[in-house]
Amino acid sequence: MKEKSFVMLKPDAVLRRLTGKILTRFEERGLEIVAAKMMVIPRELAQQHYAEHEEKPFFTDLVEYITSGPVLATVIEGEECITLIRKMVGATNPKEADTGTIRGDYAIDTGRNIIHASDSPASAEREIGLFFKMDEICDCSFPDREWIQEEP
Ligand code: RTP
Ligand code: MG
Repeated sequence: MKEKSFVMLKPDAVLRRLTGKILTRFEERGLEIVAAKMMVIPRELAQQHYAEHEEKPFFTDLVEYITSGPVLATVIEGEECITLIRKMVGATNPKEADTGTIRGDYAIDTGRNIIHASDSPASAEREIGLFFKMDEICDCSFPDREWIQEEP
């Protein structure tokens, strides 16, 4: 089933100039970038986005980190892409992330783990709604789709 995931390249990814390399991985896998926005997240939106962690001891640091510079907020589409992208992203703690995953290749510290990706269809819907208006998401058809999926 085709899904949309909310994928955000965090300030360290942007400021370390890794956005091109990371987006290339998703494109080369056969996924489709259907929305993208460079922005500094307002504090309130960061708190909403990570509301599930409100009570955690790292919440203040997390909000500080995520609002400390520009992020590249994106919506990525593809077959069962929510789980697929989480696999490509790797473990939350980059020290435990497999080599070959994005965190496993580009990060070392949990507090600087360079990328966010939705963890379920419900999270994806909620997060996309927080960051994008409906008309900011492209409903486009990629001509190579038949070479990526047998039944597009
Ligand atoms: P994300 O939401 O950013 O995609 O990361 P995740 O699902 O892999 O991990 P999650 O448990 O949702 O944690 C959200 C972000 O909070 C920071 N964190 N710090 N110091 C800590 O123990 C700790 N634990 C989590 C990380 O930036 C993590 O990505
Ligand atoms: Mg999470």
